Amino acid sequence: MRLGGAARFVIEIEEDKDLAEAYHFADEKKLPVYVIGGGSNIIGRDGGYNGVILVNKLHGIYVIDSDEDTIRLCAKSGELLDDFVDYSVKLFDGEQFGFSGIEALSKIPGTVGAAPVQNVGAYGQDIAQTLHHVCVYDYKDNCFKKMMASELNLGYRRSIFNTGDGVGRYFITSVTVELHKHWMKPPFYNSLQAYFDERNITEFSPAVVREAVSAIRASKLPDPKEYASSGSFFKNVYLNEEEAEAARAKDIPVWDGGKVPCGWLIEHAGLKGKEFYGMRVSDKAALVLINESAKSYADLAKARQAVIDAVYEKFGMTLEQEPMELGDE
Ligand code: EPU
Repeated sequence: MRLGGAARFVIEIEEDKDLAEAYHFADEKKLPVYVIGGGSNIIGRDGGYNGVILVNKLHGIYVIDSDEDTIRLCAKSGELLDDFVDYSVKLFDGEQFGFSGIEALSKIPGTVGAAPVQNVGAYGQDIAQTLHHVCVYDYKDNCFKKMMASELNLGYRRSIFNTGDGVGRYFITSVTVELHKHWMKPPFYNSLQAYFDERNITEFSPAVVREAVSAIRASKLPDPKEYASSGSFFKNVYLNEEEAEAARAKDIPVWDGGKVPCGWLIEHAGLKGKEFYGMRVSDKAALVLINESAKSYADLAKARQAVIDAVYEKFGMTLEQEPMELGDE
């Protein structure tokens, strides 16, 4: 968002073995540690971060093993997620080009290590569906560990890494996914299906899905290199069955699993394209806030409240912020 104060210390982690030393440094100074990848989904508060930021610069992508139907790919956590996706759709095993499982995660900003933290997902895939295991440095137990996907309590934008005691405890060093030879099958996520239908596309190779998702994202979501934004600023709202029935009766769209798209709520509260305190509600996807001229986190906080209040007043639903926050107000 290009807002907020500075960090007291920043350490770049280039090899796994740098980690023990970095955490030791923080311990000696009695400061907390926070790990960032690309930083695209983290908002800094105005008071800055009185601690040590570890910036993930671990690189490398490897094929671990394969059998007839699957292949396991491992990426060091500082790789860009989009580079990992690109590798997976171009991988040739002697028979087939491209393996399926993460192609719909194309063009999500940020690093591989961030993917399990909030179980990134888009266009019908999330990392939980293909994640096999992660390797971590455990700050509490002062050791490296392998953790299976089933141990990570992965849910909608959630894992042990961003909830409860797990926050701040682990540095993810690598991520291993299990990808398939068989391709994604229709029906696809609404906007992806519409893209294929309009172009009469019937072969859904990982490369074709990657191209489609990339085009859809480019048309809807601001490129964070160009515009200061954190992608979806709000989470979709999930309703229980009773609430879903009441919402449908009011013509609010409720998708499978009780999902109400927060973009719909914000648009139908009349906020699309509007600006508050220098923050603009994107005119393409109302769930995205873009920093046009906000000077501080305080401006963003006021804009966020304006959106939350307007949606609550109109629909009685409370939006929650999607990006993480760091630092003192
Ligand atoms: N919609 C509107 N107005 C808008 C935007 C959306 O009415 O301005 C409605 C439309 O009905 C649309 C529906 O919302 O059909 C869903 O919109 P979209 O397909 O854009 O997906 P989303 O549910 O709003 C989620 C993720 C995105 C991810 C897309 C695609 C969240 C908070 N967001 O958005 O993730 O790319 O699905 O799968 O879960 C991110 O996390 O930063 C992010 C961009």
